[in-house]
Amino acid sequence: ATTLGAAAAQSGRYFGTAIAAGRLGDSAYTTIAAREFNMVTPENEMKPDATEPQQNQFNFTAGDQIYNWATSHGMRVRGHTLAWHSQQPGWMQSLSGTALRNAMINHIQKVMAHYQGKLAYWDVVNEAFNEDGSRRQSNLQGTGNDWIEVAFRTARAADPSTKLCYNDYNIENWSYAKTQGVYNMVKDFKSRGVPIDCVGLQTHFTGGSSLPSNFQTTLSSFAALGVDVALTEADVTNASTTQYGGLTQACVNVPRCVGITVWGVRDSDSWRSSESPLLFDGSGNKKAAYTSVLNAL
Ligand code: XIL
Repeated sequence: ATTLGAAAAQSGRYFGTAIAAGRLGDSAYTTIAAREFNMVTPENEMKPDATEPQQNQFNFTAGDQIYNWATSHGMRVRGHTLAWHSQQPGWMQSLSGTALRNAMINHIQKVMAHYQGKLAYWDVVNEAFNEDGSRRQSNLQGTGNDWIEVAFRTARAADPSTKLCYNDYNIENWSYAKTQGVYNMVKDFKSRGVPIDCVGLQTHFTGGSSLPSNFQTTLSSFAALGVDVALTEADVTNASTTQYGGLTQACVNVPRCVGITVWGVRDSDSWRSSESPLLFDGSGNKKAAYTSVLNAL
């Protein structure tokens, strides 16, 4: 295969990218994206501050723009994200307790109703753990430790057709406390029947040249709990070919690793653009890391 999407599809996987609505008018950008990828994650457009700017007043314009672009190019879409401590609209930041709990539930119901039956996955909850494996203190956590399972139960009822994911960063190293914290939550959810279908490992690698220790063990251990795993926001400092090839190989080696998404198209599109962490340079040329990924798929 000669593109990332087609190469991933040979083993039933997808290869995706984050897409920004504001760049859809850039034909150099859309040409690469349409050619190489078969899954799209809206980079910011389906986050709570974008979809519910005023309480109970929803705006799906930018999210729909990305959805329509993706599906018109035969790509599927991962929704990102419904409940998160960051990128909350101002009105939500100032809520707490029952009012916030109810607002979270309403947000999940309304946003999922809009996209009902359309999205392959939803990142229901994003980044709810601290580095030491404890729960992150946030206004959502302040509503009670059960807020995550409430979010997942609400999501399942709102759209039973989409796969529900927990998504986080720094959960790639199996020996790391945060990885174990998330693992124990997923294990608990599976044992109690809380609906969860997948774990997204963001895979933002910073520095170094090797993979986080036991990365493949992390993927297979989550998978053994009965969930799919995916690498959801991959980017790598200076696009290390060893790390890009290795993260791809780790996913390919784990049957329930369903796909890889890189967090942008060209280095110039990246939220970490000064680190040149993506597979295409600012001029749209394939970098060495592109070849490492393609060869590993
Ligand atoms: C980032 C976007 O790339 C930026 O454009 C935005 O300013 C901040 O958020 N973890 C996530 C993503 O789950 O949503 C974040 O995306 C990167 C870290």
